[in-house]
Amino acid sequence: MKVSVVGSGFVGSTAAYSLVMQGIGREIVLVDHVKARAIAEAADITHAVPFTHPLTIRAGDYPDVKRSAVVIISAGVGQKPGESRLELLQRNADVFRDCIPKVIEHAPDAVLLVASNPVDIMTHIAGEIAAECGVPSSRVIGSGTTLDTARFRSLLGDHFGIDSRHIHSQVIGEHGDSEVLTWSLATICGLSLEEFSEVRGIELNDAVRKSIDERVRKAAYRIIEGKGATYYGIGSALARIVDVVLHDQRSIMTICSRIENVAGIENITISMPHLFGGEGVMASIPLMLDDSEQASLKASATIVRDVIDSISL
Ligand code: LAC
Repeated sequence: MKVSVVGSGFVGSTAAYSLVMQGIGREIVLVDHVKARAIAEAADITHAVPFTHPLTIRAGDYPDVKRSAVVIISAGVGQKPGESRLELLQRNADVFRDCIPKVIEHAPDAVLLVASNPVDIMTHIAGEIAAECGVPSSRVIGSGTTLDTARFRSLLGDHFGIDSRHIHSQVIGEHGDSEVLTWSLATICGLSLEEFSEVRGIELNDAVRKSIDERVRKAAYRIIEGKGATYYGIGSALARIVDVVLHDQRSIMTICSRIENVAGIENITISMPHLFGGEGVMASIPLMLDDSEQASLKASATIVRDVIDSISL
C-alpha cells in the first residue's frame, strides 16, 4: 500500500521515518517544493530500511502520488518561537490553495491527512478545496488533537504510575490554546480518576490538574523554544493514523474533520473523537461533557469558526 507525503520538512519526513520504522505501508513518496530536500530526506530514510522492514521510499512530484491510499499534507510553514498556530494561517492557506488540487488530480481516491498548523482550520480549508474537486469531507481528516490526547494520557500515566495505554481520556476542540481536556470523562480500568485516585491513594488535587493542563496545553511552545520545532510526537501520531486508514482498523481517535454541529456551532472542522477507517471518517462521537467542558468546547469552536470565517480562500 502506498503513502505519499506532501511537505518533506521536519514533520513530513519524521512521519515518513516513523512509517518506515514500523513497516506501515509498502511504498512512500516524498514531495516538496524544494525537490532537493525531498531527495535528501528520501535518501537518508532509505538507509534506515535495511535495519527495519522492506519498503521503498523515494522523492517525487505530484504525478507520483498516484494510487496513494493516504496523502499526508504537511506542507507550509511551522511556528516560530512564541508564535501561535493561528498566526500561520494565511501563509499556509495560500500553500494549500496550490497543493491540494494537484494532490487530488493524481490521487482522487486517497484519504487526505492534514498535519499543517493550525491543523483544524487547515483541514477545513483542505476540505473546502477538496469539495470543489468532488472529494467528500469524510475523506479529509487532520491530526487534530491526537497528540494532545497522547500528552494528556502520558502525563496522567506518569502521575498514577501506570502505562498510559490503560488510560482513556480525550483532548478535544482546537488543537491549540483553547483545547479542552475532558477530565470528567477520563477513566482508568472503568473507574473515574477520582475513584482511581482513592483506590490507589494517589492524590489528584487542583494543583495536579492545573499542572497537567498547562503541560499539555503549552507542550509545543516549550519544545519549539528549545529546538525550533516539534516533530517526533506528531510524526508518530501521523503514522498511527495512517495505519488505521491503511488497515481499516475502525479506530476512535481525536482527529479533526468537518462536523455539522459542535456545541451549537454549525459546519465546523474541529477535533472530536472520530470513528474512522479505510474510507476516512465514519462517525463523530458526541461526548457527555460536564457544563464547564461544554462551555469550553463552545468557546473553542467559536474561535475556530471565527477564524474560518476570516479566511479568504
Ligand atoms: C504540536 C504541533 C504538532 O503540538 O502542533 O507539537
